[in-house]
Amino acid sequence: MEITQLRTNQITNPLGFEFERVNLSWVTAAGESQSISQKAAQVEVSLEANFSTVLFDSGVQEEISSLGYSLDLELKPRTRYYWRVTVWGDAGDSVTSGAAWFETAKMDEKWQGKWISPDLDKEIHPLIRKEFTLPTGVVSARVYLSGLGIYDLQINGKRVSDEYFAPGFNAYDHWIQYQTYDVTDLVAEGKNAIGVMLGNGLYKGRFGFDGGHHELYGSQFAVIAEIVVTLEDGSTVVIGTDKTWKCTSSPITFSGIYDGEIYDANLEIPNWNNTDIDDSCWTGVTLTTVKTDKFLARLSLPVKIKEVRKPVEIITTPAGETVLDMGQIITGWVSFRTNAPKGTILQLQYGEILQNDCFYRDNLRTAKAEYTYISDGSDREVQPFFTFYGFRYVKLTGFDRAINLDDFTGCVIYSDIDQTGHIETSNPLVNQLFLNALWGQKGNFLDVPTDCPQRDERMGWTGDAQVFASTACYNMYSPAFYHKYMYDLREEQKRLGGSVPFIVPQIKPKDDPGFVTGHGSAAWGDAATVIPWVLYLHYGDKELLAQQFDTMKDWVDYIKKIDEETGGKRLWQEGFHFGDWLALDGHDPLSPMGGTDAHYIASAYYCYSAQLVAKAASVLGKTEVAEGYTTLANEIKEAIKNEYFSPNGRITIHTQTAMIVALYMDIIPDNFRERVMNDLKAKLRADKMHLKTGFVGTPYFCHVLSENGANEDAYTLLLNKDFPSWLYAVNLGATTIWERWNSVLPDGSISDTGMNSLNHYAYGSIAEWMYTQMCGINPVEDAPGYRKIVFSPKPYGKLSSAKATLHSASGLIESGWKIHENGNLSFAFKVPFNSTAEFILPDAVVDKVIVNGQPLITSGIKAVQEDDQVKGELIAGRYQIEYMPTKDYILKYSSNNSIRELLSNEETEEILAELLPEVISNKIILHRFAESSLRELSQSPLGAKVVTNEQLERLDEKLSIVHV
Ligand code: BGC
Repeated sequence: MEITQLRTNQITNPLGFEFERVNLSWVTAAGESQSISQKAAQVEVSLEANFSTVLFDSGVQEEISSLGYSLDLELKPRTRYYWRVTVWGDAGDSVTSGAAWFETAKMDEKWQGKWISPDLDKEIHPLIRKEFTLPTGVVSARVYLSGLGIYDLQINGKRVSDEYFAPGFNAYDHWIQYQTYDVTDLVAEGKNAIGVMLGNGLYKGRFGFDGGHHELYGSQFAVIAEIVVTLEDGSTVVIGTDKTWKCTSSPITFSGIYDGEIYDANLEIPNWNNTDIDDSCWTGVTLTTVKTDKFLARLSLPVKIKEVRKPVEIITTPAGETVLDMGQIITGWVSFRTNAPKGTILQLQYGEILQNDCFYRDNLRTAKAEYTYISDGSDREVQPFFTFYGFRYVKLTGFDRAINLDDFTGCVIYSDIDQTGHIETSNPLVNQLFLNALWGQKGNFLDVPTDCPQRDERMGWTGDAQVFASTACYNMYSPAFYHKYMYDLREEQKRLGGSVPFIVPQIKPKDDPGFVTGHGSAAWGDAATVIPWVLYLHYGDKELLAQQFDTMKDWVDYIKKIDEETGGKRLWQEGFHFGDWLALDGHDPLSPMGGTDAHYIASAYYCYSAQLVAKAASVLGKTEVAEGYTTLANEIKEAIKNEYFSPNGRITIHTQTAMIVALYMDIIPDNFRERVMNDLKAKLRADKMHLKTGFVGTPYFCHVLSENGANEDAYTLLLNKDFPSWLYAVNLGATTIWERWNSVLPDGSISDTGMNSLNHYAYGSIAEWMYTQMCGINPVEDAPGYRKIVFSPKPYGKLSSAKATLHSASGLIESGWKIHENGNLSFAFKVPFNSTAEFILPDAVVDKVIVNGQPLITSGIKAVQEDDQVKGELIAGRYQIEYMPTKDYILKYSSNNSIRELLSNEETEEILAELLPEVISNKIILHRFAESSLRELSQSPLGAKVVTNEQLERLDEKLSIVHV
């Protein structure tokens, strides 16, 4: 056995985080062991890495869960705790992990350092420094520090950390975070120097659309720091920020999140961050106060350069511009090597797409997104400190010598989380779509889940975060990232009587409150209930759910209050809601509002969120609360039925999204489901088998189809290549997910400059369907965190294989399928150590199924026949399953295909042209019957004249040899 992924509060070896609780988790893998489950475990905590004295010992206990062991230990400030775990397997073997650790920050300790501000004009970017002397016998050293807007910390000439944009992206009026750095290896006996550079960030720089706002949280740069050095004799030396620190202006003459950075190397002060410089002419600092409710240790994960990429091409555009192509839309910047002569001005401008083969950035609206470097003639590597860009193309100006691609490196930045999920199918376009969704996440997970990383927005829109949360948890290990976001959300919510802002952290411009300060929209505010529940399903961390429970409940109580105040109808029919944002069925094609009644969507989410609160309450043992919210959900369900449905289950709002939501959110009586599903299928046909959905309907569409007997329609939507569809964008070269279905028109021109990002992850939520339905990996509410898995893959012959892997909280899970040429279906499942799984095989006969080379029925695996499915139970291990399905999975064309399908394949089109020329030349038929099959057409009065049974037979004979 092997123990890996040891995490404290879902973070590997967290240094200086806020530990309102200590939750330890790990992953055990069986390796060569015979053990399949954990018999018992023991957690030990020590102050020494070698555990010479044990501070805490859980004892050997059967109940200890690898998904979360709550450590009951009173913590001391500035202390590193080592922990390890021993796991006993059911085969009698055991393994002890290596040591993991977490280290506390200052906790309630009083700060000796004071907030200081440079005595410089508030627009001048400062360098702040202090020299200090240390005695002999330094054992360890830490810096506790925060800086406003954002800071870069250096000691004795070196950057202290590889993170950017600290102290983090949050509502500074509610809380400011400080970081802890281990600088033991950077300081030494004798003279040392600490230097801090500051940039504007959203604290004081421009932020917000429509021109934005300045100085949202403060107008002054400020720093607070404490260097705490522990000596051999156990004593400590503390150097805190005070009036003796000094400052001067920085070579950074401008910085802004949207507009970029200007760096004049000629203004550098050599060794400013090191000892032995004469700083007598530097300016002083003033003690200052910073307005915030709380000053806390960090919750934000560090934002780092997580990947680097080389440009794929250098282009000279028709306009004569020199443009680098990164081959992929990324978020971050391009660093470059230069030795340009002194005074040369080098400029990089960032854009997402070329237009007419030329550089373009109008869709970034007012964001300048540029970087300017003024050379001092030295040879060096250059990159910005306090800004980032969302881009694929970089226009270079001033680089007049022959440009060498090797001198440029794309730095991809995102919060320090790792990829956990991967999907691969037989269709390269689908594979690209998956990667686009993954890149959408990487590009928008910068401390806050942002809507987009490029234009003058980059905000934590709650709706986008809500619809993408589950996909995010499959793709990457996300609990600590969302924990920080949910902390932000809670802080805002507490001040809004339970409501949730459109944007978290919410900015609060004093001069012009406008749209950005809005709150209380359905689907957006439901981030309060959906995200905690999604985290619980994926990571099984019950304590986290307990922590977030009030956030969930307060949101539903807020809606209920509005409901009560407006007549207690158990509907939400008040206020502004974004509705099915950007759906294609709105009345005004120029408006972003979709066609589904926004108050219907609001009432549906009211019901859905009440259900989630009830579920969470029952997990947490709050039985009465659970009953209360179940009753509420049932009342809402009844009210929705009365308001929006005919007595026979016909929905009065005839949009795709209205039906999708009804089926997904369990807001209709069971006896309405079939009717609504049939109506949805008919609507989809009427819409020529294309989606028209926006932010609300899209994430659930394929899911609802696959779960309700229309799996092939889900694949049709997945595989459509023309507008509007996911692959439309892929075919036009998209490398991320677009904000709109038609962000780019077929001729390559951008469709709208007002609101059109090419890196907006919301529609990337199709990846969730790929994991859950196509590949069939599903978490289970009763045993979350993948302690139990449901494998229910739903193959379809338009793909010949698909496979998902997931490094889940319980270990590695795999689920894949293949359709073999002989017609056999095979599935490969992997169940991790200590987990179990239920599997559901479609179109199978139990005594024809072979598992790991032997018949399923004699394999010892529990399995039963249920209608046309075989259901069974698996323990940890790998399983290769194969059988001949009762239905043909190798799809061949026939007269049952729609006319549109037959016309979109060259071979079948030729057959039609040969056998039924009068059909394909008949415009009326093509227009009215494109979604019908020829068989259906032959039964209509119009079709009977042109398609006879005899023709159909001949047609089927010819079509049946063409593979789909
Ligand atoms: C953002 C969205 C967001 C929306 C609110 C846009 O500007 O980019 O993704 O959810 O506004 O409707």
